Amino acid sequence: MSVIVEVRNLRFSVGGVDILKDVSFDVEEGEFVGIIGPNGAGKSTLVKILVGEIKKYTGHVRVLGRVGYLPQVQTSRRDFPMKVREFAAMGAYAKGRKISWDKVKETLEKVGLSNKSEHLIRELSPGEFQRLSLARAILAEPDVLILDEPEAGVDEMGRARFFELLDDLKKRIPHLTVLMVSHDIGMVFQSCTTVMCLNRTLHCHGPTSEIKIEDLKKIFVDFDLWIKGNRHYEIFHRK
Ligand SMILES: Nc1ncnc2c1ncn2[C@@H]1O[C@H](COP(=O)(O)OP(=O)(O)OP(=O)(O)O)[C@@H](O)[C@H]1O
Ligand SMILES: [Mg+2]
Repeated sequence: MSVIVEVRNLRFSVGGVDILKDVSFDVEEGEFVGIIGPNGAGKSTLVKILVGEIKKYTGHVRVLGRVGYLPQVQTSRRDFPMKVREFAAMGAYAKGRKISWDKVKETLEKVGLSNKSEHLIRELSPGEFQRLSLARAILAEPDVLILDEPEAGVDEMGRARFFELLDDLKKRIPHLTVLMVSHDIGMVFQSCTTVMCLNRTLHCHGPTSEIKIEDLKKIFVDFDLWIKGNRHYEIFHRK
């Protein structure tokens, strides 16, 4: 397997304050990386640097291959008269490729939106729109899929389906690399092959099975309180 994301000595500051510093890591093709860390840790900033939205950093950042990106805050306008299935298909069109409606239908089914495919996008709830955005990102057939809190605003059922979908996607396309920021620690530890604990800098980074509670305690203040409030905290209990 080859390196698909390469970051060396990354630093990003605003007004003399370091948002990110001394961040270095490699991601190999096919990895499913979970990026975790408290609010304000710099996770979205890192993601924006990776997708090229933030350019004024220092250090070396290289992402090889096509990137599919689902931002934390949905910036897509959706007040125009476009159907759900058309919006999903735009993922492929944006890359200059044609796509069959069967494929669009299949992906919408996977995100649980098949019954909404003829609806207008403005008619979707925020959680449904989030799922649709994931469908669109997948249909773009990226080499690297970058998701920033994809589960935010999605209900329990939808969340489980969301992560199933990602697992399924990973099985179908083993070389697909996924980087996912998430506060759903249980899901991260269940699905991801690699975990990165970020708080301004990388505090730990390695295979999921090698990440210890002690590592997490270093980055999450009030860890005990926090972990109790987190779903699936029993996953840690086992460790
Ligand atoms: N353009 C900017 N100007 C000033 N401060 C910024 C800017 N962008 C980000 N920050 C600050 O950088 C820090 C990291 O922000 P970021 O959005 O990356 O955090 P995060 O880890 O994604 O948090 P969350 O879990 O809440 O999404 C925050 O303290 C934020 O206020
Ligand atoms: Mg964020």
